[in-house]
Amino acid sequence: MCGIVGYIGAKPVKKILIDGLRELEYRGYDSAGIAVLQQGGFSLFKAVGKLINLEEKAKEFESNGFSVGIGHTRWATHGKPTELNAHPHLGQNSYVVHNGIIENYQELKAMLTAQGAQFLSQTDTEVIVHLFEHHLKTAASAFEAFRQTLARLEGAYAVLLVNGSVPDTIFFAKHGSPMIIGRNTDNDVLFGSSDAALIGKCNEVIYLEDGHYGYASSDEVALFDAQDREVVLRYVPLSDNKLSAQKEGYRFFMEKEIYEQSTVLADTLMGRLRDRSIYFEEIDPSLFEGINEIKLCACGTSYHAALVASYLFERHAHIRTSVEIASEFRYRDPFLTSDTLFVVISQSGETADTLESLKMAKKSGLKTMVICNVDNSSMVRLADASILTRAGIEKGVASTKAFATQVSVLWMLSLYLGETRKTLPATEIERQIQLLRTLPSTVAVDPATHEQLRRLSKRYLHGHGFFFIGRDVFYPLALEGALKLKEISYLHAEGYPSGEMKHGPIALADPELFTIALLPQHKLYDKTKSNIEELSARDSTICSISPLDFDKADDHIRTRAQDDYMLEFFEMMVVLQLLSMEIAIRLGNDVDMPRNLAKSVTVE
Ligand code: M6R
Repeated sequence: MCGIVGYIGAKPVKKILIDGLRELEYRGYDSAGIAVLQQGGFSLFKAVGKLINLEEKAKEFESNGFSVGIGHTRWATHGKPTELNAHPHLGQNSYVVHNGIIENYQELKAMLTAQGAQFLSQTDTEVIVHLFEHHLKTAASAFEAFRQTLARLEGAYAVLLVNGSVPDTIFFAKHGSPMIIGRNTDNDVLFGSSDAALIGKCNEVIYLEDGHYGYASSDEVALFDAQDREVVLRYVPLSDNKLSAQKEGYRFFMEKEIYEQSTVLADTLMGRLRDRSIYFEEIDPSLFEGINEIKLCACGTSYHAALVASYLFERHAHIRTSVEIASEFRYRDPFLTSDTLFVVISQSGETADTLESLKMAKKSGLKTMVICNVDNSSMVRLADASILTRAGIEKGVASTKAFATQVSVLWMLSLYLGETRKTLPATEIERQIQLLRTLPSTVAVDPATHEQLRRLSKRYLHGHGFFFIGRDVFYPLALEGALKLKEISYLHAEGYPSGEMKHGPIALADPELFTIALLPQHKLYDKTKSNIEELSARDSTICSISPLDFDKADDHIRTRAQDDYMLEFFEMMVVLQLLSMEIAIRLGNDVDMPRNLAKSVTVE
């Protein structure tokens, strides 16, 4: 994913920018660039691939006193990863770097092109710098031109812009994409899209809020809100401890990653949702030609995402879909036919069982695809096609945001297939795209619910076991909820289809058996309710999760009313993640590094 850094000061600017970008490398990128304004002139360096290529391009550049610089790592969304598409983007006398997406860029580009602007790249970002220069012709000041530019942008962005007529200044804005301003005792001003880029270089920072914009020089930082009112600058200390600073005030990485799901889902959807269709830049539609079956293969949490996909693919795309646990697939002499697309799902892209399964499928002549969070991982390099999930680095061993992004990609893929196979009406695709757009707000943690879960957790620290139950896609979600709980609390937990309990497991029901029941309003509500009532009648302790009241439960977590079961799925996912985490914290466990587990399982 994209990263931004900025610097105003007299220190070696190239090193500061590239070091800052290096701290953001973990987010993944495919090109990078820096622009430096020094002694009245700009120097620009861009390179495709890793930062070492950028360093090589810029190796002759020497800083000389005071300078202003901006830098960027780009993860291609509009246009291929080329030098021309890499940021910073140039106007006549200005440069811009941008994270996010400018949704109305085509309309702005048409207007600016008609007025003579020369576009060099295929990116949405380039409109910002041309729009700025367009307003600069008539505005009272460069800052006024910047303000007018922002007023015309639709979408999500974090922006830094420099202009040759104000060589000591960086204009900045944040709207839906993170941006931080930092300062130090040497009077340097720095910018970063994450504080990882600023640790060790700043002692104080301001985390900008949506709608904030302004300008900075070494003498002054002026900050305005969305209503154009000047905002009082409130710096907060930035820890120089990388680990604790990276947790950004959260107790554990897992907690931070749960809270981050809103942002990473926005990143994952970015550029992929059109008004009436789904667009995967990385997928050539010919991949699906001649395919009559999809076989999904994965381990652990990624396997649960695959199970969710099996419901969505068959429902939306009417394509036979099977799901394999990778460690079983490898040794069961599977019968494979060449009309099957073999799709592996993996956060790391390195899990040994999944990787070997992918190799087996390739060897058998199947077309292959990976849904993965790590670019250039072994699976991404091996598969015929890949879709990246853009969750950013996941440090907690218990996977959270990676799962959320996997399911969102698989949901989009089911719609993409529904469209190409003509199995979903256009109106339904459009409706679901609107639902997808709301995912970032759907998974935003409600502080009251988090507090309720924290309090509730003390009642679930003992007992002889947990059953997580649900139907349809809520069954794999129940499996995932149970996996989360056992991984970090070390309590015994199982996921079960609600309707299956009466075929055996209900024999365990007593007050010491805790049932976590997923009761969505929009998917099989009555059926699931009856199953929970059967358990309640046998005195199992029930914790129900539903937007509707349920009087047979001992505890009830009320979720928000949603328009569709998939939104209920994502909201309940967050509830289950927080519940497991709060139980594990009460038990005094190391939530981020649970005993016996590794983040990436590269052994069989
Ligand atoms: O990197 P992968 O997605 O291939 O990893 C698969 C599993 O090892 C992983 O999901 C594991 O189950 C997690 N610890 C779950 O929280």
